[in-house]
Amino acid sequence: MSFYKFKTIKGEKVLTYRDEIIRILIDEDTLQKKVIELGKKISADYEDKSPVLVSVLRGSFIFVADICREIKIPVTFDFMAVSSYGNSKVSSGIVRITKDLEHSIENKRVLIMEDIIDSGRTLNYLIKNLSARNPESIEVCALLDKNVPRKTENKVKYKGFDIPNKFVVGYGLDYAEKYRNFPFIGYIEKE
Ligand code: IMP
Ligand code: MG
Repeated sequence: MSFYKFKTIKGEKVLTYRDEIIRILIDEDTLQKKVIELGKKISADYEDKSPVLVSVLRGSFIFVADICREIKIPVTFDFMAVSSYGNSKVSSGIVRITKDLEHSIENKRVLIMEDIIDSGRTLNYLIKNLSARNPESIEVCALLDKNVPRKTENKVKYKGFDIPNKFVVGYGLDYAEKYRNFPFIGYIEKE
């Protein structure tokens, strides 16, 4: 039997699984503290009119599940799935809606919940697409913002962490659908 195991290698806590080593970039504690902080901000900003949290599947599912319990005002949920990567680590640049919202967002205050902004293409596409449905407002909450050169302006109002330009996994984020269930954000050392 093989289970994930935390080990300390040269003073650094890592996760191991068979011959894989996963290094921790943002640990569980740090994630939870940030989630609480963001939840507070969102609660205060939307106090007078509750937002619909649009969770972008599948990467944001853990983040949304955690942060919604730190938002202390009524919210509603809807889910959207987009695909831009296939099974690769590099964005194809083509964004496709694979699952659309269930409800109208007309006159609603929309808060797009994203796991990570990389090239920004997915977010740009989503903002454009959802704006055309006449919501009262659209804002963006993203857990991670990758440090990559972008031509477009940063539209993230509620941001968790700026991270280096590395391919990260865990806390909802995957590589080829794996690793989403790690309780931290990390990256794979050996593949
Ligand atoms: P963008 O369109 O290039 O900004 O890519 C955004 C989407 O690609 C995110 O919502 C993620 O689903 C995925 N993605 C981007 N970078 C990573 C990463 O480092 N790990 C896992 N998924 C990523
Ligand atoms: Mg995503």
